[in-house]
Amino acid sequence: MTDPLDSLFSRVLGARIFADRERMRPDYVPDDLPHREGQILKLAEILAPSLKGSRPSNIFIYGVPGTGKTAVTKYVLKKLEAEGRKIGVDLGLAYINCKHDDTNYRVLADLCEAAGERIPFTGLSTSEVFRRFVRLVDASGKMIFAVLDEVDALVKKTGDKALYDLTRINQRLERTRISIVGITNDLKFMEYLDPRVRSSLGEEELVFPPYGASELEDILSRRAAVAFNEDTLDAGVIKLCAALAAKEHGDARRALDLLRISGEIAERNGDPRVTEEHVRMAQREIERDRVVEVVRTMPLHSRILILSLHLLSGKGGKGGSTGELYDLYSSISKNMGLEPLTQRRVSDLINELDMLGIANAKVVSKGRYGRTKVVSLSISTKNLKEALQDDPRVGVLIRR
Ligand SMILES: Nc1ncnc2c1ncn2[C@@H]1O[C@H](COP(=O)(O)OP(=O)(O)OP(=O)(O)O)[C@@H](O)[C@H]1O
Ligand SMILES: [Mg+2]
Repeated sequence: MTDPLDSLFSRVLGARIFADRERMRPDYVPDDLPHREGQILKLAEILAPSLKGSRPSNIFIYGVPGTGKTAVTKYVLKKLEAEGRKIGVDLGLAYINCKHDDTNYRVLADLCEAAGERIPFTGLSTSEVFRRFVRLVDASGKMIFAVLDEVDALVKKTGDKALYDLTRINQRLERTRISIVGITNDLKFMEYLDPRVRSSLGEEELVFPPYGASELEDILSRRAAVAFNEDTLDAGVIKLCAALAAKEHGDARRALDLLRISGEIAERNGDPRVTEEHVRMAQREIERDRVVEVVRTMPLHSRILILSLHLLSGKGGKGGSTGELYDLYSSISKNMGLEPLTQRRVSDLINELDMLGIANAKVVSKGRYGRTKVVSLSISTKNLKEALQDDPRVGVLIRR
């Protein structure tokens, strides 16, 4: 009998789909960013004065997810740094992803590192780190760029004090200046900010509009030309990935993921070419991961509600009325020692689940008994198990 792993390894090793898979990875920054020439030029124009020693304006960059904000910013900073090196101007660049470094302490520690000093993980007060940063920057005489990517995450977690301090820092510096590039995909974010922070952060603004289907097609073709082997993509594949991603608010990340995963599926199957069928499979895979992730990170009461829906669907397969659902939800909550939410709140949660594509709520007519709302679950038991497996209280109640 042949070992199934042997045949898997030989399929993967024999696969000829990718020439360089790394170039399809989401964090790979390509040198070629079509349809962003305007943004690249504008950003470079704003930052270029730093090469002559004057402080560039702060910039606020926004646009929906996957529109190239991070890629363009990293690209321009890389070019700027290289130009600086060429002419002997030392620029301090700190690229901080505020989703990962979501405390003021971490952000300041990263900034210190860009200015040339390592700060211990803990042990100092935030204000002490801030003072050190000011001293360091001034002593180094370097122009510092602080790129705060996904800056909304920081503000949502800790408020806008750190941003406020940073935008004021120049008043305390004597020999040098710092300049802030804030990036967000949360278009409402600016409204939450202290008006003083808003006006200094937004000295310049740069908008990244969503890509259209034909722009995505271009982007994909150019990335695919170096990432895939010749003649491994069926004619309609790139067009289909672009069209599907254009529906997802013109998200280049989604388009690239679709194409990369389609290629991976083709390789796993030992197929010589990527077909539209592979793209459809990739789409389903991404959708499944999205749903699992959304459910996994939901608040406890929503998860109990989903579990109740799942248990209700088990009986007749078709879900249940909002009344039945509420009763089951309440009794499970009480069993767990929790106070159930009100019927009104639960009704809001049901609407939210409906909007996210996790549940389906529809009003059905019961003849002369009037109309009732029936809710059912739209995700499979398999996905549900995956999403709730880390939650011992809820996960254990899923039907086998
Ligand atoms: N014009 C382009 N050409 C080639 N690749 C691109 C282009 N725009 C975006 N990409 C790629 O698409 C992916 C998403 O882009 P990026 O990470 O820059 O989006 P973003 O606007 O920062 O999104 P988010 O708001 O979610 O952080 C990345 O892999 C990036 O390399
Ligand atoms: Mg980004």
